[in-house]
Amino acid sequence: MRRTTSVSETPGSEKPGSERSIGERPGNPSAGVATATRGTVATGGVEATGTGAVTTGGAATPTAPTYQQPHQPLLTVEALQTHFELRQWGFLRVGSVRAVDGVSFTLDHGESATIVGESGCGKSSLARTLLGLHRPTAGRVTFAGTDLATLRGRALKAYRAAVGYVQQDPYGALPPFMKIRRILEEPLIVHGVGTRRAREERIAAALEEVGLEPAHETWQKFPHQLSGGQQQRVVIARALLLRPKLIIADEPVSMLDASVRAEILELLRTIQRQHRLALLYITHDLSTVRHYAHRAMVMYAGRIVEQGPVERLLDRPHHPYTRALLAALVDPDAANAHQQRPIPAGEPPSLLHPPSGCRFHPRCPAIMVGRCEHFDPEEAHPRPGHRVACWLHSR
Ligand SMILES: Nc1ncnc2c1ncn2[C@@H]1O[C@H](COP(=O)(O)OP(=O)(O)O)[C@@H](O)[C@H]1O
Ligand code: SF4
Ligand SMILES: [Mg+2]
Repeated sequence: MRRTTSVSETPGSEKPGSERSIGERPGNPSAGVATATRGTVATGGVEATGTGAVTTGGAATPTAPTYQQPHQPLLTVEALQTHFELRQWGFLRVGSVRAVDGVSFTLDHGESATIVGESGCGKSSLARTLLGLHRPTAGRVTFAGTDLATLRGRALKAYRAAVGYVQQDPYGALPPFMKIRRILEEPLIVHGVGTRRAREERIAAALEEVGLEPAHETWQKFPHQLSGGQQQRVVIARALLLRPKLIIADEPVSMLDASVRAEILELLRTIQRQHRLALLYITHDLSTVRHYAHRAMVMYAGRIVEQGPVERLLDRPHHPYTRALLAALVDPDAANAHQQRPIPAGEPPSLLHPPSGCRFHPRCPAIMVGRCEHFDPEEAHPRPGHRVACWLHSR
């Protein structure tokens, strides 16, 4: 079952000609969105309603599979693994980077969840696997009851349309040689949306929704003529254009000036609520989590070590790593703001050779020697919906 992806490939892509169960266009899940610059990608979303077709401004989308089945989670991730095979000189197998190593969670329709963890713990690899940019090594991703690995042709196109992607680097996500209007029109053309006029109306509506008014002024510009915050608004508009059911936002504000971060997060939250979208907000910054998500998942070394309702997880964290992350937050007291609090101590582990037993054990202040370094903690359920992988809570 286990399969690894060679890192000699372009990151985020499969080898030409290799079997690819989700993703026929390496590096681009949107089946035609022209964003393949600097190795970046973007998705949009076609309407995937019960009727399979919608009209906006006179534009009709092609028929798409039904994604509205509220009785089941929108997204189900089961024991997902994404490993990257490392080779020396292109042929000598060195080992596998276990970027995602047994991740399970669900996301409901209209729910916002956050994945939080230090840099290098596998957040982006997880996001890109969900988007179909990395083929899972093992495990399963189910979107509205359909296994991603089975999607082909129109169904695959509809899936890509139903999942919007907001990346960390907005400038890298926008082709520098195209005007905003063309960038936004591309996914609509690819997905066969309406007449030119209908597309313009939809683009104008999307730009206005993300606060880029007047739209006809914005769409005449090239990406470099916009500020970082405006660029990210364009990326969000593009993710919204085809009316996705889910948006995956991977560190959407980490490359922006501090002054615009809250605005962009607020915009995402407003859009998520108004459109009743599911949102997977990925961040290394626990301080932004409380206001922008219903549920939080804490990721460490390729695994989710704790997950639960945001309030509970932040107010009563159980896992020593979650506690350490919370302790590392900047003190809101201005008098202490200058103090650096490098917690948790120690370095994140190598995912090429992750620690045995509990992966947090080399840094854990509560380690139970003789147990934690030898045995993977079993998951405990302190409260309904609250799960923690730590021997302190498992029996
Ligand atoms: N395409 C790839 N090939 C090989 N290793 C990769 C690839 N993408 C990510 N990795 C490795 O996987 C680990 C997790 O990376 P990433 O998912 O980017 O973490 P995060 O987003 O949490 O910072 C890192 O060790 C990174 O070097
Ligand atoms: S299982 Fe042991 S080492 Fe791991 S977090 Fe819990 S107490 Fe710490
Ligand atoms: Mg990342």
